[in-house]
Amino acid sequence: MNAAALLSVNGLSASYGSAKVLFDISLAVAPRSIVACVGRNGAGKTTLLKTIAGFIKPTAGTVTAGDRTLIGLPPYDVARLGVKYVPQDKKVFSDLTVRENLELGSYATRDYNWDPVTTYFPKLKVLMDRKAGYLSGGERQMLMIGRAILGSPQVLLVDEPTEGLAPSIVAHLKNVFRELSKTAALVIVEQNLPLVCAIADKVYALSDGAIVATLSGSDEIRVDQCERFL
Ligand SMILES: Nc1ncnc2c1ncn2[C@@H]1O[C@H](COP(=O)(O)OP(=O)(O)OP(=O)(O)O)[C@@H](O)[C@H]1O
Ligand SMILES: [Mg+2]
Repeated sequence: MNAAALLSVNGLSASYGSAKVLFDISLAVAPRSIVACVGRNGAGKTTLLKTIAGFIKPTAGTVTAGDRTLIGLPPYDVARLGVKYVPQDKKVFSDLTVRENLELGSYATRDYNWDPVTTYFPKLKVLMDRKAGYLSGGERQMLMIGRAILGSPQVLLVDEPTEGLAPSIVAHLKNVFRELSKTAALVIVEQNLPLVCAIADKVYALSDGAIVATLSGSDEIRVDQCERFL
């Protein structure tokens, strides 16, 4: 247990049917920090974020945000308590415009102030009337993160945000994550190790569903240290 943690995961295990995928995962996320989670394909990173976010019911363990337990809550209640999940598959409502996607986010959070969204992602202003299904991968990621920050969440769980994106948008997202971490905590699953090492305060390495290393501080959070786990 870490009393200072905003998000605490203790002894979390999860399965798909009879296949066990997560084994006794514990992690602590401090306020206004960036925690990265690295690991090979199939290590269980997405399963971990989905379990925290309430999409998968764990077989054991606890997840708490502040003094609230999140286990057993449906995803919309986890989100309402300020823990937002940005999925790996970049799913948006394709037939709806960018504006309509943001309106749904506002409706869910009762937060109708889009200034932070368009400050972080000015490009969304000119894309407001475009159907989300037509957006490029980078634009779609901007919409996903923009929608997720409505309601000023305490914790953002972001699954492989830079997968397949050009270096310029990766650099932009790096700055956005740094800015967001001034007010929220971020848990980012990411394969881009230079990005991880540039922004993370702590790195958890996952292998076969278990945490095999925890790195912190600039002497440990280095590309050559992290790449052993990819
Ligand atoms: N819905 C599902 N049903 C059954 N098994 C699943 C399901 N989703 C994932 N798995 C399995 O669980 C394991 C962990 O998958 P997960 O998606 O969490 O890995 P990951 O670390 O996010 O991988 P990647 O880097 O490829 O995104 C894998 O062996 C995968 O095949
Ligand atoms: Mg994944």
